[in-house]
Amino acid sequence: MILQKLLTALCLTAATIAGNAQAKKPHSGPDTKSMPWMNTSLSPDQRADLVLKQLTPDEKLTLVHGIGWGPLREGDPVPPNNNGGAGQVLGIPRLGIPSIQQADSAVGVRMAAPESRYATLLPSVLGAAASWDPDAAHLYGDVIGRELRAQGYNQSIGGGVDLARDPRNGRLFEYPGEDPVLAGTTVGHLIMGVQQNHIMGDIKHYAFNDQETGRTVVDVHLDRKAAHESDLLAFEIGINLGHPASVMCSYNKYEGDWACENDWLLNHVLKGNWKYPGFVVSDWEATHSTVKAAKAGLDMQMPGEEHFGAPLKQAVQSGEVPQARLDDMVHRILRSLIATGAIDHPSTPRTVVDPFKGRDDAQHIAEESIVLLKNANGILPLSPSVRSIAVIGAHADMGVMSGGGSAQVDAPGGNAIAPGRPTKWGEAVYFPSAPLKYIREHAPSAKVEFNDGTDPAAAAAAAKSAEVAVVFVDQYMSEGGDAPTLALPHRQDALIEAVSKANLHTVVVLITGNPVSMPWVEQVPGILEAWYPGIAGGQAIANLLFGAVNPSGKLPITFAKSEADLPHAEIFGLNRPKGGAGLPEHWVAQEKKVSFPADYNEGARFGYKWFDSEHKQPLFAFGHGLSYTTYAYSGLTADATARTATFTVRNTGQRAGTEVAELYIQLPSASAENFRRLVAWQRVSLNPGESKQVTLTVDPLFVSVWDTGSDAWKILPGDYTVSAGSSSRDLPLTAKVTVQ
Ligand code: BGC
Repeated sequence: MILQKLLTALCLTAATIAGNAQAKKPHSGPDTKSMPWMNTSLSPDQRADLVLKQLTPDEKLTLVHGIGWGPLREGDPVPPNNNGGAGQVLGIPRLGIPSIQQADSAVGVRMAAPESRYATLLPSVLGAAASWDPDAAHLYGDVIGRELRAQGYNQSIGGGVDLARDPRNGRLFEYPGEDPVLAGTTVGHLIMGVQQNHIMGDIKHYAFNDQETGRTVVDVHLDRKAAHESDLLAFEIGINLGHPASVMCSYNKYEGDWACENDWLLNHVLKGNWKYPGFVVSDWEATHSTVKAAKAGLDMQMPGEEHFGAPLKQAVQSGEVPQARLDDMVHRILRSLIATGAIDHPSTPRTVVDPFKGRDDAQHIAEESIVLLKNANGILPLSPSVRSIAVIGAHADMGVMSGGGSAQVDAPGGNAIAPGRPTKWGEAVYFPSAPLKYIREHAPSAKVEFNDGTDPAAAAAAAKSAEVAVVFVDQYMSEGGDAPTLALPHRQDALIEAVSKANLHTVVVLITGNPVSMPWVEQVPGILEAWYPGIAGGQAIANLLFGAVNPSGKLPITFAKSEADLPHAEIFGLNRPKGGAGLPEHWVAQEKKVSFPADYNEGARFGYKWFDSEHKQPLFAFGHGLSYTTYAYSGLTADATARTATFTVRNTGQRAGTEVAELYIQLPSASAENFRRLVAWQRVSLNPGESKQVTLTVDPLFVSVWDTGSDAWKILPGDYTVSAGSSSRDLPLTAKVTVQ
């Protein structure tokens, strides 16, 4: 798989260079502005139907598949206007329908470097979720949308919302955490931000792509009620809020059928229960059939034509796939192009990305997303008059790590730790925002020295001679594989142990894709989780370390002490016998197409719901995050009719700060749920001594249960317990309401 991707990347680069040379030719064509479907007073559906009537059978087929990674590798011709992204669906120029230019853009626009373009690296999506700030999520999407637009794309294929059912999932940094309401809300606002730029948005990978190990062969088993109340709920919320142009179906199987030909997932739930009007696009090379996939609800094969090219034409001619189904596919694609404004506001000609605005926005999101996990004896914030600091590890003298795979954004100037050398797929890329530099700026008169951390003894010696030690540790994660355990890689636990023994004033800064275990947690007084912090990560981290910014992030995911506390101690398929050729087993399984089951028998009870109902103590709880001030909660009242809860938050400390106030509800006993659900929250900014009354409204969907009999949501009558506080494990206020 990795080799394949590498070859693909090389070939696409060559191909797009050729394509771009041709793209410079002036465009000419019919004046399509006065065509009837350009009448903006008609609805997107009416306009799509008017276009549909004009299309020849071959033009219809053109719109339901495209080129991109894969076929280009085989040497397929590159269309003249190819934009260099992961995919392109040819347009119908005679009717004014543009090509769909698709770009990976999970945490910023990918593949900018081969086109000599710039793209902003945002903090990880998990970080954006840690801000618990819908406005930050919206801004996140806006950065992506406006940079896609500047670069001539009209579709984002980001919008990942697969839940953190397993904290070792290799793509967690692309996803907004473990809770369906927080994750769905975050991605919904992100999609709004993308689409406000008249760029088609996407939500992915639908559904249950909750591990990367054997991702193209794993067969997920999960009962339908639990499915609706967990993974699918995140998609439902994200789609309701964001109205994405497309849904990308995933690689894995669900209950024996591939997600991209799964009638229950696509036709029944997505287009039936949720009445989704947009189109379903396959993950790259995740289309497995023509008739089955078309009838199950897949609307676009990407990339390639082996299923939705000539074979689909034949299947429609023979009646195996009804003409109406092909028309429906095309209608959905056209409708999305129209509804998002991608036709009325084309993203050509290109402009230049504003890197300064991108950097400011990335820094703002990073500063809201970094979570202060521990702060014993007020070790943080550091004083600007600190005399000496030992900064250790994780290339903190050069930059900050980013996540890989199709979420990799190209670093300005190249990889900060290997400038001037092209980066290979699977290699960690550092962005040039060196924490060391910004730490020095905050403490200009301190002696600040760097030790690379490769030798724990040398690092300990450096720490011993300094007043404070700040140890940076990182964990590279990328699509195609999971973290085999929760432990930090490369013996970094030993580094922290050694440094924290040498200096009691040790602060650990984690730059990780995922939650990690911390065998040293008791020895270290200060811990910050910075996720992958993006292009301004160094500044953001330094601003929090020195208190220029008061931390306000809260965990969107539970940190477990060890794998033994998780619903599944091992990732499914990880430890099956290796197949050979030195490749990790799960790639071999993918090559061989050997399916294996993943039995999600924990149902909807994972993350904090698992820890709470199993009475297990997490390392750090979902919703946890400290500040340099303190807050007190009082006076909760709840109103079942208005669906509101009201309470007061007071800043009881010495600094201004922003508290994420969290509201949870436990359903009546008839639900058989032995855990609380997160139902609402609000960021509340408070000066020292200030109080604010907060009223949160609860969306009925978030307290509904899925009734399999009626195939619908319902609200159970009975007693609901409402709790408010600062984390899932710190809920000082409780009230009861009864629903008749
Ligand atoms: C990933 C998708 C991505 C696609 C195109 C696939 O391997 O799973 O998330 O959009 O590649 O690069």
